[in-house]
Amino acid sequence: MTGPDLRNITHRLLAWYDKNRRDLPWRKTRDPYAIWVSEIMLQQTQVDTVIPYFRRFVKRFPTIGSLARASRDDVLKAWENMGYYARARHLHEAAGHLVQDHGGKLPATSEGLLSLPGIGAYTAGAILSIAFEKPVPAIDGNVRRVLSRLMALRKPLREPSIQRKIEKTVQALLPADRPGQFNQAMMDLGATVCLPRKPACGRCPLSGTCLARIRGLQTDIPPVPIRAALPHRDVTAGIIRKNGRVLVVRRPEKGLLGGLWKFPGGTLQDGLSLQQGLRQSVLGGLGIEVAVGRKLLAVEHSFTHFLVTLHAYSCGHLKGRPKALDCAGWSWVPVDRLKSLAFSKADRVIIRSLFEAK
Ligand code: ADE
Repeated sequence: MTGPDLRNITHRLLAWYDKNRRDLPWRKTRDPYAIWVSEIMLQQTQVDTVIPYFRRFVKRFPTIGSLARASRDDVLKAWENMGYYARARHLHEAAGHLVQDHGGKLPATSEGLLSLPGIGAYTAGAILSIAFEKPVPAIDGNVRRVLSRLMALRKPLREPSIQRKIEKTVQALLPADRPGQFNQAMMDLGATVCLPRKPACGRCPLSGTCLARIRGLQTDIPPVPIRAALPHRDVTAGIIRKNGRVLVVRRPEKGLLGGLWKFPGGTLQDGLSLQQGLRQSVLGGLGIEVAVGRKLLAVEHSFTHFLVTLHAYSCGHLKGRPKALDCAGWSWVPVDRLKSLAFSKADRVIIRSLFEAK
């Protein structure tokens, strides 16, 4: 594409954005901290889901300092059910670094931002352009789709040569005076008009110059990668009660759902029944013996790379004081306090059923 063409695209996109931009709470602030929080939440969560979480989070932790001072449990609780909890841990950890070494402020440079946990090229670009008005691209999946159609790129989006081409083009399109709005206009166009399966070309401000549209290829671009079926795991959870309390364990910091609480149990090993597997996991994880009783329920949950069925059983405590053998800690918690701790979505279904059964 040539110079004048590019200017025309930028101009039309921004004019469209002025009329059609989504009314989102993080667009009402100039506070780099709030913009950072929103971009971390938006990394893996849909806009509609993020909105209430964002509002609550910046109310609860209004500054970098207040986030740094908060306990990890409080931060995880504010993130509960949004998934990808490493985001919350990294945000909290980064706030601590910023207070210690950076006067409690977010750096306005790529190097500074990229040195913080949880910030990659996309998020650094979004923060630099939206909060600091720097002409840096912020290219997510939506933007890649828009650009691949605009230029009729027929190769898969994950190919490095395609990614380089897209980045170069966005760089050339970015206006010096409204880089943050340009990046967000691209995101909005991808999220509301240039949709994956049914692009609404009739409403698109760029349809006149879109090569995919001109060639009738808009639904063939980008090519859809063929996905293998996700593997499945059975996981057990023991509800071990004693004197009105329930035994819960904290997951290790690193790894899936790190730092969240769960019920004792674990992934079922091949060849074992659910009851045998649960007894073994509880013995291996906490060093205690339990009698596995009635099945309470099974909950299905999908993660990015696998599916889980979580099987919950009522258990009796037979022998031994718990020891944190393969977890970060344990606690006998009154049933009423379960709701104040952060659990995964599937565990919360179990907790709800405990309350319903009460
Ligand atoms: N996705 C990621 N960042 C976004 C933003 N600032 N606005 C809308 N959607 C987004």
